[in-house]
Amino acid sequence: TQDTMNFAGQVAIITGAGGGLGRLYALELAARGAAVVVNDLGGSVDGSGSSATAAETVVEEIKATGGRAIANAADVTDEAAVNAMVAEAVEAFGRVDILINNAGILRDKSFAKMEMANWNKVVDVHLNGAALCTKAVWNVMKEQGYGRIIMTTSPSGIYGNFGQANYGAAKAGLWGMMNTLGLEGAKSNIHVNCIAPSAGTRMTETIMDAGTLKMLAPENITPAVVFLCSQAAPTRKVLVAAAGTYTLAEMVETQGIHLAEGDRTPEAIAANWGRISDRTDAEPVNSAMEGVAKLVKAMANA
Ligand code: NAI
Repeated sequence: TQDTMNFAGQVAIITGAGGGLGRLYALELAARGAAVVVNDLGGSVDGSGSSATAAETVVEEIKATGGRAIANAADVTDEAAVNAMVAEAVEAFGRVDILINNAGILRDKSFAKMEMANWNKVVDVHLNGAALCTKAVWNVMKEQGYGRIIMTTSPSGIYGNFGQANYGAAKAGLWGMMNTLGLEGAKSNIHVNCIAPSAGTRMTETIMDAGTLKMLAPENITPAVVFLCSQAAPTRKVLVAAAGTYTLAEMVETQGIHLAEGDRTPEAIAANWGRISDRTDAEPVNSAMEGVAKLVKAMANA
């Protein structure tokens, strides 16, 4: 039987892999045989500055243990640089099996105090950056008939977090992108999933206490991401990982109510709010089209 957690012959591009979580993913995939493109702009947590050494240092670490890797300092928001990165990966290693969209920054502020420049920058790096990288590998993966793409969402993106309207919106956007790309990639065996990590890294070290940070060792996230990179990966799922606990986050819709024509008033919505929001038998909807089909069927039965 085939060892699906062995990545020999596979090629992975990992953005923001010069430190934090991305570095750990790069080391583990390389140790399991993948050739890795270690991308990192090498800036600070708020996205200012840049340095090529972050990515290069991780490449040296991988090479020191006999692995294969190349460094890349592309800014994920720079379309030409991202396209060049993917071209370089294909030239060096012949294919691209895995893309981990991991690069990210923080510019937290309550919404009242948030400047739109800080909204735009955060959305640009997380959401548009992931779109550019995904777009650049998409046709390569389609032609291969194989691909594994990981979006890095966040509990802030799926549940909200005070002071992170920009970051939460970008992270929720990645989840939205996954939902559609998973549908579009299915027939080419391109699986698209989200990881929602909580981990002690430079990004969180100033906002969590020492005890919490210790519990949230970033090493706990790596197995979840390696699984999502593998042939055994599901598709269109959000895997939540923190402190050794792994859960699935899913959007569900309640059974709700159907109001007859003529009864469709805001008063009726208010009067029935308890039933509309009742979670008994709530279930996920697999796609927008399936949601409509379900409604049509329910109407026909009514
Ligand atoms: P980190 O700051 O150590 O890693 C992010 C990396 O992305 C950095 O090395 C940075 O240089 C790189 N980067 C930033 N902008 C870039 C750009 N434009 N182009 C290329 N590289 C760029 O932080 P951490 O925690 O490892 O974050 C990794 C990912 O996980 C991020 O997307 C973050 O939002 C996400 N995340 C982290 C959580 C945590 O608890 N640490 C929680 C939820 C999500």
